[in-house]
Amino acid sequence: MAIYTLPELPYDYAALEPVINPQIIELHHDKHHAAYVKGANDTLEQLEEARDKEQWGSINGLEKNLAFHLSGHILHSIYWNNMDSPKDGGGGEPLAADGVGDLADAITESFGSFAKFKAQLTKAAATTQGSGWGVLAYEPISGRLIVEQVYDHQGNVGQGSIPVLVFDAWEHAFYLQYKNQKVDFIDAMWQVVNWQDVNKRYQAAKASVPLISL
Ligand SMILES: [Fe+2]
Repeated sequence: MAIYTLPELPYDYAALEPVINPQIIELHHDKHHAAYVKGANDTLEQLEEARDKEQWGSINGLEKNLAFHLSGHILHSIYWNNMDSPKDGGGGEPLAADGVGDLADAITESFGSFAKFKAQLTKAAATTQGSGWGVLAYEPISGRLIVEQVYDHQGNVGQGSIPVLVFDAWEHAFYLQYKNQKVDFIDAMWQVVNWQDVNKRYQAAKASVPLISL
């Protein structure tokens, strides 16, 4: 039985127009995300077989595949929920009046201001070399928010950091609509950020126990 399953989208394919067109959302979710789910399940099966047969010749490749597909599944699962239609409250910036003042304060404390944070995450996502992500993550040792530039789905990550807002900067996320204008896509992404969801993830991350103190 499959360990991981493809989550349903929290909206229909056209919900994020005009920022992201329906064709991109459909392919991205139904094909790309689904492939990471299958890849993670397949790799776990292959690792079980390797253990049973005590055949370790492919261990390096299998561990790399597990990190790649599992991280792809996790980041995309967060990504869909991090976004919402502007008519349903997506976009803008986190405000105390909307019940997300705690997140707004953490962003200001960690980056100096919302504008400075927005500039850093935009730059990190838009300048990713090859395929990757721009990520806002909670770092539990310091209790601060940090921006990470993630390579593929799993590289260049601070161990123990917890992603709360993720911008997919892979070409499959934008190329059908934005062609080679990755910066324009990342700039537009801010119009569909679901701050309620980001705040929910921030609160859950803050409640976690820093592993280094155990
Ligand atoms: Fe993606």
